Amino acid sequence: MITTCIFDLDGVIVDTAKFHYLAWQRLAKELGITFTETDNERLKGVSRMESLDILLSLGTRTYDARAKEEMAARKNAWFVDYINAMKPEDIFPGVRELLVELRKKGYRLGLASSSKNAGTVLDRVGIASLFDAVVDGNMIKNSKPDPEVFLLAASKLKAKPSECVVFEDAEAGVEAAIRAGMKSVGIGSPKQLGKANQVVARTGDFKAEWLDKL
Ligand code: BG6
Ligand code: MG
Repeated sequence: MITTCIFDLDGVIVDTAKFHYLAWQRLAKELGITFTETDNERLKGVSRMESLDILLSLGTRTYDARAKEEMAARKNAWFVDYINAMKPEDIFPGVRELLVELRKKGYRLGLASSSKNAGTVLDRVGIASLFDAVVDGNMIKNSKPDPEVFLLAASKLKAKPSECVVFEDAEAGVEAAIRAGMKSVGIGSPKQLGKANQVVARTGDFKAEWLDKL
């Protein structure tokens, strides 16, 4: 029986996946690297430094650790500029309503994000209080596809993995849910997220009554 819903943040609750892309693309341009939206799919759900390594692998130069720290900080400053301007109306359509309905029906809700900025985003859009537990990039060692973030969320929520459903827009996130022994709902295209138990185009399209049929 499903008792617990665990949500990714970027690209599932808010459109911050777009801000990550724009900030990485700006860095790529400065470095003379071609970086497309298809390349960006590989960065979704992946930590900041691992994302930078993937981006740099598309170019020809190598950089030392200090140069990489500086690049990651530069990208993050642009990303933070975007999220600081976010408002409650920036939450994806229907998502607040879905979270409220799930709570009313008695499900426990968790947030599990690889982002170290997740707390800021939750505050800006004003939904932190809807979650019983939040796990972000500051609390984990291994980012998705490693299952750590979801297993930590489940343990904070006192739920067994088999009672949890994960909502994810990243291929790495669906893989992490599978490795955690959890069911998953993919948000996006079935082509990319085909391993999920169900795929919907937008989080707000999901109906609470589908949970028991996954
Ligand atoms: C994930 C995003 O949620 O967080 C990734 O999908 C991002 O694209 C990762 O790289 C880390 O984010 P941050 O905010 O810690 O740089
Ligand atoms: Mg995401």
